[in-house]
Amino acid sequence: MTFLFNSDAGRGAVFADAFARELPDVPFTMDAAAVDPDAVRYLITWTAPEDLARYRSLEILFSIGAGVDQFRFDTVPEQVKIVRTVEEGIVRMMQEYVTLAVLALHRNLPAYLAQQRAGEWSDIAQLQAGSRRLGVLGLGQLGQAVLDRLKPFGFPLAGWSRSPRQIAGVACYHGELGLEEMLAAGDILICLLPLTEDTRGFLNADLLAKLPKGAALVHTGRGPQLDQEALVAALNSGQLLAAMIDVTDPEPLPAGHPFWSHPKIILTPHIASVTQPATAARAVIDNIRRHRAGLDPIGLVDRSRGY
Ligand code: NDP
Ligand code: OXD
Repeated sequence: MTFLFNSDAGRGAVFADAFARELPDVPFTMDAAAVDPDAVRYLITWTAPEDLARYRSLEILFSIGAGVDQFRFDTVPEQVKIVRTVEEGIVRMMQEYVTLAVLALHRNLPAYLAQQRAGEWSDIAQLQAGSRRLGVLGLGQLGQAVLDRLKPFGFPLAGWSRSPRQIAGVACYHGELGLEEMLAAGDILICLLPLTEDTRGFLNADLLAKLPKGAALVHTGRGPQLDQEALVAALNSGQLLAAMIDVTDPEPLPAGHPFWSHPKIILTPHIASVTQPATAARAVIDNIRRHRAGLDPIGLVDRSRGY
């Protein structure tokens, strides 16, 4: 019952140590060419290998990240569980990134950077945190963790999900009507939705127009959720004041793409959050123990929902 690690060797070494220590009866390998494919019960990877079908005894396909949109579910046999990585390193880094982005946008950093480049010294009227309303799209492990980290700053907080949620200190919305209400109060909108057929192209001109004039966007979900032309148009018209974008389509963007140089966009190369091997190995090992005990792994993907 081998565990096959198909990612970078640095993180693989940390996983190998953890498996040797905590799950010695599960052989661990990073060598896909040498392993007996029939022995592979567990596979962790970012993209599914083209020859996935050769692992006929596969029980769990782990994504090494929190997202699973890189997998084509129809190529993964029905009996194989698809499990995303839910671990404290990813959560902590996303909390840091979104806090950085919210504070940068709240304190007008894109405009001050533009002023610096222009040699201009002047202040911009500053709204207080209690008057800057934040809205988070997606109230899963990351959306909730981010809201929790932002609580001490005093921003009015809201969130939106598919199913109803109750979170202390957060106005929770769901469904289409809920979305309209939340958008109308989204001075800074943060996207932490998974990429599914329902969320592809979700951040479009229509949605951006429903935000208060002068709102800002933090996009840390997935690139194909954002209509890039609509964002540039909203920034150029003043409907949006600024955006901090971590995910794009494609990644990286081609040379000359307007996001590289737009004065109202801060662009980062999909680094908001990165799986941390020590904590991820612990989460994966716990999940194998759960699976062997007949329990569902944490982060089990519902194929019908797509996340
Ligand atoms: P979860 O699966 O825990 O949460 C997803 C949330 O989105 C849930 O609240 C879910 O609603 C909501 N949702 C999904 N579809 C819809 C919809 N159609 N309408 C309304 N709400 C919807 O995911 P995570 O929080 O762990 O991660 C979210 C995403 O963040 C990942 O899928 C990935 O794309 C992105 N990510 C980005 C990283 C980066 O570095 N930029 C790093 C890690 C993740 P409900 O609660 O009702 O199920
Ligand atoms: C992830 C990511 O899904 O890094 O973990 O985007």
